[in-house]
Order: sequence, then structure tokens, then C-alpha cells
Amino acid sequence: MTETDARAEIIAAYRALEAKGLNRGASGNVSLRCGEYLLITPTAVAFDAITPEMIVRMRIDDASGDWQGPKPPSSEWRFHRGILATRPDINAVVHTHAPFCTILAIARKPIPAIHYMIAAFGGADIPLADYARYGSEDLAKHVVAAMQSRNGCLMANHGMVAGGHDLTRTLWLVDELEALAHQYYHALAIGGGHMLSDAQIEETARAFSGYGVGARPETAA
Ligand code: 13P
Repeated sequence: MTETDARAEIIAAYRALEAKGLNRGASGNVSLRCGEYLLITPTAVAFDAITPEMIVRMRIDDASGDWQGPKPPSSEWRFHRGILATRPDINAVVHTHAPFCTILAIARKPIPAIHYMIAAFGGADIPLADYARYGSEDLAKHVVAAMQSRNGCLMANHGMVAGGHDLTRTLWLVDELEALAHQYYHALAIGGGHMLSDAQIEETARAFSGYGVGARPETAA
């Protein structure tokens, strides 16, 4: 993919998140691997004001924060860079304040195996990354740690992150994670529900490998 195409994909994804009610205004951010670089949305620019020229370029192997572009990168560039640097199978990362993910993150409730679709995230739960101030090095450490074994996590009192092989897959994961959060929130409201076992989630993961939703290269273990 050319850098021009990658910039256009990021803009389309950022707008799609707003249109689907998964993000609001200038909150949330999107990044995409482009060779040795990551391309990321600029800080504090809303979905209706963003243009391809505003997308910021940073080196994945450079933790210093150097950037190229007309505007500074998302304040969350540290965890975007950290995930792309440590998960070669992930090429796109999305962070949003999706409503039901954020409600569970405020209640500090990781999502257990309430539904077989959780298997698409690489295991039997969606972990909760510890709280640290937005944009901080500590927050990046917590999020990158949570994303070592999963393709999505909640962020305490903040929101959610998902990462996949490409942006189409990652947007799908964001939508699925919000659906799981929505289901869990309502299951809690009627008493909590029944959890699937690790064996049942592993069985689902094996079945997914021969089915559309799971037949993707990112391989959280
Ligand atoms: P940016 O505008 O810097 O991307 O920050 C938005 C946000 O959601 C911080 O967590």
C-alpha cells in the first residue's frame, strides 16, 4: 500500500468510527504501519476537520517522539508505537471512548467469557489496562502489556484499544468489542450470566480458523 492510500484509509476509518457511534469528536486515534513508519492521526483534530495532509509520520523504532507533519501526533502515539513495535502481526491500532467499553472501564470490569465471539480477541477475556493519565508513558506501558496476549483491551476510566492485521479487521474488532461490552453490561444488570470455559473458547478459536471472522493473521496467544 502507498503512503497516500494509507493516509486515505486512516481518514476513512476515523470518520467511520464517529458515524457508527464508536467515537466522538476529537477523542480516539487511529494508526497504521507503513513500512518502517507509523502513520497516526494528529492530536486534537475532530473527524470532520481532518485531512490526509494532517496525518503524522513517526518511525516505529524511535521512542523519542520525533514526528513529521504539519501538526503534532496524537497524544497516545506512545502506545500506538509500542503495540506496532512489539506485535509484528498487528498493522493497525485504534483507540476510542466507545460508550459501553468506557462504562465497563469506569467500573473497572474486564470482560469475561460471556460470549464465544471473545475468542476473536485471542483468549477467554478482554483485559483491563491499569489507569494512568492520558498520553503518559505509564499508560503506554499498561496498554502495551495488556495487548501482548490479546487483540483488544479496556483502559481503566478511559476507553478501549484494538489492533489487527489491517484497518478493516481492526474496525471490525472495535465494533465487536463494543458489542461484547454492551452484552456484558446488560447481563450484569440481570444478575451476571453464565461464563464459557477456557476449553469452549479454545474450541471456538479453532473453529474460527476455518471461518471468515477468525481466518486472519494476527495471533494473540
Ligand atoms: P488525541 O486527540 O491526542 O489523539 O487524544 C484523544 C484521546 O482520546 C486521548 O486518549
